[in-house]
Amino acid sequence: MMQVHYVMYEGIKFPSAYNSEHSLSFTHNEFQVRDDDIFNVTYPKSGTVWMTEILSLIRSRGCPGWNRTVLNSDRVPWFSTRLGLESALSYLPPRLLTCHLPRHIFPKSFSSSSAKVIYTLRDPRDVVVSSYYFSKMCNSYEDPTSFEQFLRDFLNGELPHGSWFEHVRGWMEMKDKENFFFITYEELKQDLHSSVRRLCRFLGQDLDDDAISSVVQNASFMSMRENPMCNSILLPTDIMDQTKGQFLRKGICGDWENHFTVAQSETFDRIYWERMQGLNVTFPWDQH
Ligand code: A3P
Repeated sequence: MMQVHYVMYEGIKFPSAYNSEHSLSFTHNEFQVRDDDIFNVTYPKSGTVWMTEILSLIRSRGCPGWNRTVLNSDRVPWFSTRLGLESALSYLPPRLLTCHLPRHIFPKSFSSSSAKVIYTLRDPRDVVVSSYYFSKMCNSYEDPTSFEQFLRDFLNGELPHGSWFEHVRGWMEMKDKENFFFITYEELKQDLHSSVRRLCRFLGQDLDDDAISSVVQNASFMSMRENPMCNSILLPTDIMDQTKGQFLRKGICGDWENHFTVAQSETFDRIYWERMQGLNVTFPWDQH
């Protein structure tokens, strides 16, 4: 098994294949946010790459050309990583940028800007499952020993990018701010058309119904799977071992039910309700 290294920054563990102490500290302390920046922020496996496609398609008013010819990481750079930072700095504004950063290490200059943040979140149980399979195929993450152990690590906030609970709580503090928009993976799945319409309104982009339909069609799971500019097949084998799985794996809600035992589900619920207390938001997965 390949040795996996992490870099620690402000108490959070990041894969060192993409991140360095310098890229993280530069992003945090020196990165100059512009008022016209649009940030796609997520905890890993919550729909990051999906939102990247949606945002680029909205920018192209539904025309798929850009999405089909330019890699997602060049359209919406991972600005806190070593390579992503370079492409963010040379990006002709207005910029579309993406990251998994928790709120407390997001660029300091953001606070005094009117840049927009789109925060996508997903049922944490599906996040664990998706993350478990992703860790098996992605060589910059440690191979999970078992699902049981992986779930424990997730609940203890010991996976790369830190605790899901802290991430969500940190970002959701912004929920009433005008430049903050949050949406769930579940809402995107349930009604992509009206989700895109809401996104357009937030972004101040007026797309007609045909344009929105084209965004929806080109951001579908099937279209994305066929698009090498976002399905990850162009990534080198030492980063992503495509023989061990598929990045666009299932694309469904509720796959956790096929993985959690009753006991795991009970433990999960107990910790979830403890950790989410006082947040005052109801997510689609909270009502059952
Ligand atoms: P699964 O592993 O459950 O299939 P991220 O981009 O944050 O790493 O998230 C990856 C997850 O989003 C994967 O979940 C992937 O299949 C899913 N996904 C990506 N594009 C999607 C789409 N168009 N529709 C539904 N799910 C999508």
